[in-house]
Amino acid sequence: DKKVTLPAIGKMKGVEPITMVTAYDALFAQIFDGEVEMILVGDSLNMSFLGKEDTLSATMDQMIYHTQAVCNGATLPVIVMDMPFGTYTSPEVAVKNATRVYQETNAQAVKIEGGKERAHIIEALTQNSIAVLGHIGLMPQFIRSEGGYKIRGKDQADIDKLIEDAKAIEAAGAFAIVVEGVKAEAAKVITEAVSVPTIGIGAGNATDGQVLVWSDMFGFFEAFKPKFVKQYFDGAKQVREGLEAYRNEVKAREFPSDEYTY
Ligand code: KIV
Ligand code: NA
Repeated sequence: DKKVTLPAIGKMKGVEPITMVTAYDALFAQIFDGEVEMILVGDSLNMSFLGKEDTLSATMDQMIYHTQAVCNGATLPVIVMDMPFGTYTSPEVAVKNATRVYQETNAQAVKIEGGKERAHIIEALTQNSIAVLGHIGLMPQFIRSEGGYKIRGKDQADIDKLIEDAKAIEAAGAFAIVVEGVKAEAAKVITEAVSVPTIGIGAGNATDGQVLVWSDMFGFFEAFKPKFVKQYFDGAKQVREGLEAYRNEVKAREFPSDEYTY
């Protein structure tokens, strides 16, 4: 296995689907290393790792801490850090905060939520040689201002807006675009409208790649399960069974047996 580069990701469009998962720590990053092309240190960690209701209270310090951990565990994939809510409110603020990501971690890029209205932010970052992964469609950082999570691309006017967003982000220099919570047909036309790869989540299978949150796909996050999440492992159940066996053996003084005793 060799190190995946940002140009290599760009060249995969139309050739081979790109695989991406989230990771929040070195332990899992090590397991994922070499298995996927990209790892996202998503601000979803504010929910699944920290136990908050939404992503909005995530901070730069928190994201950098987790990104350092992920970079310690995985060296082969492209590692992207989510810029938290409120850390890219202007080009100056965004450049100042995103510069920390390159100075304090080994991540190759940052992710910014927003379409046309955020293109100037993405442009400021890419012109300061900070690589950006865009994120359009359903954007979790907008949950309060939008009044909930809403599937996008249901009518032609919204599809046109999403295409405009994707093109604006591409023109601003994003190397790829996450397309979240969008009708499959809309994600397909968005993918065809840009020359950079689209990475879908809840966006059907016509995008150039897929991303899933590791704790969802491996069955560790039980609070709720969206329709687009396929569970590839029964994490919570397996861990609970293991823990039950341990507890029962300790209570019965079966563990530690001679085999585990000095
Ligand atoms: O925070 C996250 O995990 C994300 C993915 C859902 C794309 O932004
Ligand atoms: Na995110």
